[in-house]
Amino acid sequence: WVVMATAQTPTNIAVIKYWGKRDETLILPVNDSISVTLDPSHLCTTTTVAVSPGFEQDRMWLNGKEISLSGGRFQSCLREIRSRACDVEDKEKGIKIEKKDWEKLHVHIASYNNFPTAAGLASSAAGLACLVFSLAKLMNLKENPSQLSAIARQGSGSACRSLFGGFVKWIMGKDENGSDSLAVQLVEEEHWNELVIIIAVVSARQKETSSTSGMRESVETSLLLQHRAKEIVPKRMVKMEEAIKNRDFSSFAQLTCADSNQFHAVCLDTSPPIFYMNDTSHRIISYVEKWNRSEGSPQVAYTFDAGPNAVLIARNRQVAAQLLQRLLFFFPPNSDTDLNSYVLGDKSI
Ligand code: DP6
Repeated sequence: WVVMATAQTPTNIAVIKYWGKRDETLILPVNDSISVTLDPSHLCTTTTVAVSPGFEQDRMWLNGKEISLSGGRFQSCLREIRSRACDVEDKEKGIKIEKKDWEKLHVHIASYNNFPTAAGLASSAAGLACLVFSLAKLMNLKENPSQLSAIARQGSGSACRSLFGGFVKWIMGKDENGSDSLAVQLVEEEHWNELVIIIAVVSARQKETSSTSGMRESVETSLLLQHRAKEIVPKRMVKMEEAIKNRDFSSFAQLTCADSNQFHAVCLDTSPPIFYMNDTSHRIISYVEKWNRSEGSPQVAYTFDAGPNAVLIARNRQVAAQLLQRLLFFFPPNSDTDLNSYVLGDKSI
């Protein structure tokens, strides 16, 4: 017999960035963060997990290719989930798996991204969140999404925020064992329906410095990171939560852009400095800044993660249509810039 479960999880984009860990193994951050989860029809991972007495070892395939499960992070997630597994019964098929059986049974995991992994767009967040959610479904865990987020966090920090839709807060927590470092939903999917997210793929190349090693170097060498974590982010979190609750786009855009710029300033303050953005990213920032100034109030917010791709958040559909037109005009695909494609993320909030 085989028992299966499937789940689908979208990626999330941070508007207050997570950058820096106080515990590398448990993945505990140095500051709170806030993200927005994309609509599941864009940039999402679908994972099917199966269990059978015939499986001799845990195995995983990503986009059809087998990958190693030996990494410590995968193993932590699997261990955490297995230890919470409950009885599963399928009366129709006459299958009963008891709690104690899960320790001996092996799982096969097949995961697909609906976007090219090579496009340099964040995939670990959706991937790890989906892995945890599908396994939790298969093994009949009783934990709520926040408790599951604390498991996903151990796979990849940003993954914990993909367990919810809408705007999501990752509370850094205080406990040394990480039990209170988890995600909560701030507002639900429908709360801010007008927003449209456009991702301008500036470069499809793999980033040179991974988030994991980049943030480790920043924690070790950047004084700005210490200042940001202690003095800046706590105040910014309060303001950002308020802006989201009130659908105050001006404050939201100002905080989002400022936080992205500060995150990249921390990268520059790291020794040796880390450059995630390139000339095209900088030109997009200048362009959006000028546009916002000429309108008298912000129409578009920008944010960049650990790579040169621009995530642009338009205040409504009309602005998004204009933005797309202007991007295509000023940054035509295949021009001397290496900006080559646009992904329209029609967010569901
Ligand atoms: C810049 O979650 O990829 O996207 O926890 O080491 O797996 P690990 O790092 P990861 O870092 C994401 C960093 C970021 C900002 C963010 O998503 O908050």
